[in-house]
Order: sequence, then structure tokens, then C-alpha cells
Amino acid sequence: MATPSAFSSLLSFSAIVVAAAAVVFAAGVTAQPLPPARQDGFVYTGHRVDPDTVVVEAFLDPVCPDSRDGWPPLKQALQYYGPRVWLVVHLLPLPYHDNAFVASRALHIVNALNTSATFQLLELFFKQQERFYNDQTKNMSRAAIVDSIVKFATQAVGNSYYSSIASGFNNRQTDLKTRVSFKYSTSKGVSATPSFFLNGFILPNAGSPINYKGWRGFIDPLIAAQGQRR
Ligand SMILES: *[C@@H]1O[C@H](CO)[C@@H](O)[C@H](O)[C@H]1NC(C)=O
Ligand SMILES: *[C@@H]1O[C@H](CO)[C@@H](O)[C@H](O)[C@H]1NC(C)=O
Repeated sequence: MATPSAFSSLLSFSAIVVAAAAVVFAAGVTAQPLPPARQDGFVYTGHRVDPDTVVVEAFLDPVCPDSRDGWPPLKQALQYYGPRVWLVVHLLPLPYHDNAFVASRALHIVNALNTSATFQLLELFFKQQERFYNDQTKNMSRAAIVDSIVKFATQAVGNSYYSSIASGFNNRQTDLKTRVSFKYSTSKGVSATPSFFLNGFILPNAGSPINYKGWRGFIDPLIAAQGQRR
């Protein structure tokens, strides 16, 4: 059993170890500054937001089946509303989807190379996401998975971008951007995908897709209310 003085010196020793670890951590790891220089999110349509534009924020995971199922009805609703509705997609790579972070990072890499190919890649993930499920990739090394996702992502931007995408995975900035997406999502309290915010407020049943009828049910009344205001 430790005497009181041995105990207190143990305590102060622990305090020194903790302080030293904090210094090493601060020096060795350069965390990205927050807030980021540019707001997180991929803007689905480029049109200008006027004060009456209804803003949808979608929090998606490219390898999540419910995100996949929620995408077509959301697209259909956007087509219906045209410029009255604006969509920003935020990525939330879920920790229990083994390849979600790599897939999300690929989206950030492609977005930086060619912004208009971002949603093509997202849709490609939704079409073939089974390839990157946990069970299907459990015998693959991390390097093999990255290699496979580099080839996969190349399909969205064209073969000439292969080496740019591959080197994107060695660029720390793309890792940091993906972390910002994760942090943005969790800072909003989002822990399930898909989750949707409408004009800044979360819609019920986070983690479940919303069908086209559901979207009309949410958005029609907002647009009607805007009409009354005019
Ligand atoms: C960017 O992607 C779009 C959509 O895939 C394509 O039409 C366009 O040619 C691409 N631009 C470049 C510079 O590769
Ligand atoms: C993974 O490896 C085990 C053992 O070799 C094999 O039985 C299993 O079928 C493999 N799974 C996949 C998805 O390739």
C-alpha cells in the first residue's frame, strides 16, 4: 500500500506525464483550424439562394443503404421544385461502416478536381455500394481498399484523373476536409444517415429515407406560406 507521500508524488508524476503528453500532442498533431475557411457541404444546384428559397441539408453516408434509398425521392422533389429549393449535402461517414471515411474522402478529392463530378460519384457509390460493405471487404487490406476506391472514383471523372485521385489520398488536406464534414455533422447533433434539415430544422425519423410524398408534405406548406406572405 502506498504511503501518503508516495501517493502524492505518484500524483504529481502522473500530472507531469499528462502535461508532457499534451505538449507532444499539441506539437505533433496539427489539427485543422475550425471553423474551416469554406463552409462544409456539396451544393447540388448552383442557383442563387434568395430569402424565399427553401434550404434542404442532407446528411449522407456514401456506403449507407438508407442514404442510397433516400436519394432518388429527394432528387425527384428537387426536380419538381426547381429553383425554389436548394440542397447542400454533408457527409457523415459512420464509424461502423468500415469504408465510409475512405469513400467520403474520395468524394472530397473528386470535388476538388471537378466539382460537377461530385454527385456523379455519389450516385455511383449509391449504385454499387455493396462492393464496399464491411462483409465484402473484410479480407482486404486498407491499402487494397483505397486502391479499389481510387479506381472506382476514376470512373466518375475520367481515366486521365487516376493519378490525381491516387495522390489525393496522400494529401493531408483531403483527410482534414473529410474530418470537417464529420465534425460539422456531429456538431449539428446528427448521428444517423440519412438525416435532413429543412430551413435549419431537423426533420423527424432521422436515419430513414423520406419518400417523394413525404417531401411534398414537408415543402408544399412552406411554399404556400410564402405565397400568403406576399
Ligand atoms: C467535369 O465533370 C463533368 C461531369 O462529369 C464533365 O462534363 C466535364 O467535362 C468535366 N470537366 C473536366 C475538366 O474534366
Ligand atoms: C475471407 O476469407 C475467409 C478465409 O479464407 C473465407 O472463408 C471468406 O469466404 C472470405 N470472405 C470474402 C468476402 O472474401
